[in-house]
Amino acid sequence: MSELLRIERASKRFRQPVPLGDRLAAWLGRPRPPRAVQAVTDVSLTVARGEVVGLVGESGCGKSTLGRMVAGIYTPSEGAVLFEGAPVMPGGHKRSPRVQMIHQDPFASLDPRMKVGETVAEGPVAHGIVSRAGADALVAETLRRVGLDPALRNRYPHQFSGGQRQRVAIARALALNPALLVLDEPVASLDVSIQAQVLNLFMDLREAAAGGSGLTSLFISHDLGVVRHVSDRVAIMYLGRIVELAPTRTLYAAPAHPYTRALLDSVPRLGQGRGVFHPIAGELPSPLAPPPGCHFHPRCPHAGPRCRVEAPALLPVAPGQSAACHLHHGGTAAAATA
Ligand SMILES: Nc1ncnc2c1ncn2[C@@H]1O[C@H](COP(=O)(O)OP(=O)(O)O)[C@@H](O)[C@H]1O
Ligand code: SF4
Ligand SMILES: [Mg+2]
Repeated sequence: MSELLRIERASKRFRQPVPLGDRLAAWLGRPRPPRAVQAVTDVSLTVARGEVVGLVGESGCGKSTLGRMVAGIYTPSEGAVLFEGAPVMPGGHKRSPRVQMIHQDPFASLDPRMKVGETVAEGPVAHGIVSRAGADALVAETLRRVGLDPALRNRYPHQFSGGQRQRVAIARALALNPALLVLDEPVASLDVSIQAQVLNLFMDLREAAAGGSGLTSLFISHDLGVVRHVSDRVAIMYLGRIVELAPTRTLYAAPAHPYTRALLDSVPRLGQGRGVFHPIAGELPSPLAPPPGCHFHPRCPHAGPRCRVEAPALLPVAPGQSAACHLHHGGTAAAATA
């Protein structure tokens, strides 16, 4: 499979507003270093044409920020995001409408004053994909593709249910004929019964596209069950870094990183009696002051002295599987000497 997306050592920092104390300190001639949230750190990942890569991690670990860099909403602070071999945002502006993002909350992402038909037609007309006269047919076809009656085109977003609104958001993205979809928690705001419908729609769209243009996707979720259902490979993020990357089957059968194992153990499993899940010990540390070395060390049952000082690199542990953990590469006992 040929490569469609390449993320090369991408990082993203957000400057925080300067607190009053820091301003006073600067005024007194004792400036403090500027505060920044390190949302994504040194992430590298490739996605092949037609592939679905799941991106999983606890809330606040940087999934949306990474997704937004891929979708051309945020520029990386360092590194690069390449789509079809060229930067997604040359000069800070998104280059191609062929990367589209679907957000968690369809109500917030749709313009309440626009009829859904206008919403779906807006992008393709603006990008010259279709003429204003031809937009009607494209809207009807796209609404049908996502399982909505084209007769609903004259309704407003508030006249739809949550699941239907997410279908409209998917239709708006599909109308631009994207090669890459970034889906950011696309079912997290929906009722469980509706979640299954929208996931099945995604699988149907993927299958329909498999023989043709191919629907390559980065599928973001905090839910390991959802990601298992839809992904070819899964990347696990912890505090801004990818800590494990593996084919879906391998990741669930033989997780290599202690954090992945902890995440899998924390998922309640149906049909296994009571009390079989174990929440991960401790809180997710603040990205304003991440722990040194391996970010996971304060919560890791295997942490050793090396883990507290040296950040592990994401390195191969098995065919197709990589993990960022000293357990697999030299042990946790002693820090490597330069
Ligand atoms: N626009 C922003 N400005 C400042 N901080 C942000 C911004 N977007 C995200 N962050 C911070 O970056 C970190 C990662 O956030 P996010 O990418 O939304 O994580 P996730 O999607 O995994 O929940 C969080 O600490 C969040 O508060
Ligand atoms: S590097 Fe150390 S602290 Fe980090 S996950 Fe591996 S064993 Fe745990
Ligand atoms: Mg998010």
